[in-house]
Amino acid sequence: MAIEKSKVKKIDEQEDRLLDEHLSYDDATVELSLRPQTLEDYVGQEKAKKTLRISIDAAKQRGESLDHVLIYGPPGLGKTTLATIIAHEMGVNLKTTSGPSIEKPADLAAILTNLDEHDVLFIDEIHRLNRISEEVMYPAMEDYTLDLITGKGPAANTLKMNLSKFTLIGATTRAGQISTPLHDRFGILLKLDLYNDDEIKRILKRSAGILDVEISESGLTELAKRSRGTPRVANRLLRRVRDYAQVKGNGIITDEMAEEALKLLDIDEIGLDDVDRRILKTIIGTFNGGPVGIDTLAAIIDEEPITIEDVYEPYLMRLGFINRTPRGRCVTRIAYEHLGIPYNKISSAQIKFDTNI
Ligand SMILES: Nc1ncnc2c1ncn2[C@@H]1O[C@H](COP(=O)(O)OP(=O)(O)OP(=O)(O)O)[C@@H](O)[C@H]1O
Ligand SMILES: [Mg+2]
Repeated sequence: MAIEKSKVKKIDEQEDRLLDEHLSYDDATVELSLRPQTLEDYVGQEKAKKTLRISIDAAKQRGESLDHVLIYGPPGLGKTTLATIIAHEMGVNLKTTSGPSIEKPADLAAILTNLDEHDVLFIDEIHRLNRISEEVMYPAMEDYTLDLITGKGPAANTLKMNLSKFTLIGATTRAGQISTPLHDRFGILLKLDLYNDDEIKRILKRSAGILDVEISESGLTELAKRSRGTPRVANRLLRRVRDYAQVKGNGIITDEMAEEALKLLDIDEIGLDDVDRRILKTIIGTFNGGPVGIDTLAAIIDEEPITIEDVYEPYLMRLGFINRTPRGRCVTRIAYEHLGIPYNKISSAQIKFDTNI
């Protein structure tokens, strides 16, 4: 499958952030070789896999197309991978496109009319599909028809065209931005969560096998701890540590090798990098631990609000370092402890008490 161009950030465009969950050119080719091909090889996400296993087997038994699938979750967790696996398991073709690359309804009509029976159409970043194209999707998803409007003004006519019975797979990092009518037309909703250390270790072990690098059990543990629950980050760290072990050691990744290499890259023992630390320290230093609104925070640390929300916050929240409250983001006591900053924030109960005086 071709790598979607719009998703690939050029290395020189990005600030070479090692923990960036987004794809870089460097990753793109390696990712193809590391991508699991079957549901059995796809580590973790047990709930999503169970749902899919049943739906795929049932659709195959009935000789029907699979219901439309919406996959959502943070970058690098395996959405595209899952879409490829679904097509593979169903034994059908996979056509790939993305929300921003469909400019006009005619683009979408061309794609839809070229689908064969039971084919999978994968639309990445489906939350960025424009409104009129989205409306073309409604009858296509519901009745496998395309409503084409011919002519203009009073002479305009709607022409109905039948489409092959296909499966739409939409992927998004922002489920909240999908309109309700579109959202409701998906029969299968799969939410991907960050992986636990054990699952990341299994992914690392598998990737090490494919890349033919030797890694000790303790080396796996050290790498997993720093992978932010994200397979893409895990695979990237593996490759960087492999280089280090090759140059500085005998090529085998041990826990010492992993620790040394990642320290050199400014990644701490739980996977936080410079930007994570800047986020936490800004909230602590400038806003006494919060609350602070996302836009203010983003402006100060010079990142896009959307990047903070999609890329950094899921892991910081999973660690329990940041809370999202209606009034903004707050840093928790354990984050202070991790950073070695004394926690002298007045609790909100205390503030209420003080103002009552
Ligand atoms: N469950 C998994 N088991 C094994 N490897 C995985 C799994 N999920 C993802 N990977 C690995 O992580 C890489 C990134 O996954 P993928 O490209 O599918 O993420 P994505 O969710 O589509 O990211 P994006 O939001 O940036 O499009 C894959 O190449 C694959 O090697
Ligand atoms: Mg993807």
